Amino acid sequence: MDRRNAMKITAGLIAGGGIGMFSLASVFKHKPTIDTEPHQLNYETNNDVWGYTALSPEHTARLAYQLYPDGSCMYATFRSVISQLAEIHGEPFASYPYHMFRYGHGGVGGFGTICGALNGSAALFGLFVSEKSVRDALITNLFQWYEKKPHPIFKPDDSEMILPAIASNSVLCHASNTHWSKVAGVEIESKERKERCRRLTADVAAKVVESLNALFDNTYMANTHNNQNVESCMACHGNEGKLKNTAGKMDCNSCHDESFGHKVLSDVHYRMMKE
Ligand code: HEC
Ligand code: HEC
Repeated sequence: MDRRNAMKITAGLIAGGGIGMFSLASVFKHKPTIDTEPHQLNYETNNDVWGYTALSPEHTARLAYQLYPDGSCMYATFRSVISQLAEIHGEPFASYPYHMFRYGHGGVGGFGTICGALNGSAALFGLFVSEKSVRDALITNLFQWYEKKPHPIFKPDDSEMILPAIASNSVLCHASNTHWSKVAGVEIESKERKERCRRLTADVAAKVVESLNALFDNTYMANTHNNQNVESCMACHGNEGKLKNTAGKMDCNSCHDESFGHKVLSDVHYRMMKE
């Protein structure tokens, strides 16, 4: 047999094998095992010193927008909520050292990690919710909402600037900002991108207040923004699966492109692995 024919036959075998694997893979499709159904969170607080009082999401958004120039995203998110509680209750809210949250700008000191508006929100959940499972559920739902919801939504009365709402797919300042700027067609240091973060901060502050209002009213629904991709990846790679080689809930596809080999072979390979 000449070399050419041999190559043709080999190519045919590979293609045939590939098709076989494809159908095998769909027969063996691995089902997610993580509980991801939306459900109501019930939480009885015993934390009366730092107790929460229901606030207006719209007013909080305007406040966060106003506060932004004074200390950026994390600071504005946190202060927009606590300063209102200080007006209602005085201490201990009135003495809160807000300045500490200025560190959160640009994804922590400009490092590009977690979005400061989310960092400030998680700090608020930390202050008001002492039960870990409830706090984590609030954070997860907020972060998954942030990944998928096109932002910014908030429009200040005194600005004519029109900004496109774009889903960031990532909670990381670097990815979120860069993706938005790329799609919007502006530079990272442009006034549009800066205004985007300022309005986004208003959106997130409103969402946090909405979440806390619902939680303490016993009407909060968890798992309402869950990411099916994460569920399916974690069914094999997470602690519930056999691989147990990764943890986390960030949108996997914001960093990992599923390779062709993985798509075709991971199911079959997984079936053959020991528990
Ligand atoms: C059916 C189970 C299964 C699912 C679902 C699954 N994987 Fe995998 N994945 C595997 C197996 C098996 C391997 C190979 C592991 C090994 O060789 O140790 C693998 C390997 C990987 C690797 C290592 C590098 C590589 O490509 O081999 C990455 C990264 C990865 N998977 C990411 C993902 C992501 C992201 C998702 C969701 C889009 C996902 N996986 C869904 C089974 C799965
Ligand atoms: C912010 C980017 C980012 C996100 C989001 C992300 N990963 Fe990764 N992942 C990485 C990096 C970086 C590595 C390390 C790669 C290496 O060391 O080769 C990695 C490694 C892995 C590995 C390989 C582990 C091993 O032992 O080989 C798996 C599996 C994996 N990630 C799955 C996931 C899954 C599932 C998700 C979603 C829940 C996810 N990743 C989200 C960046 C990310």
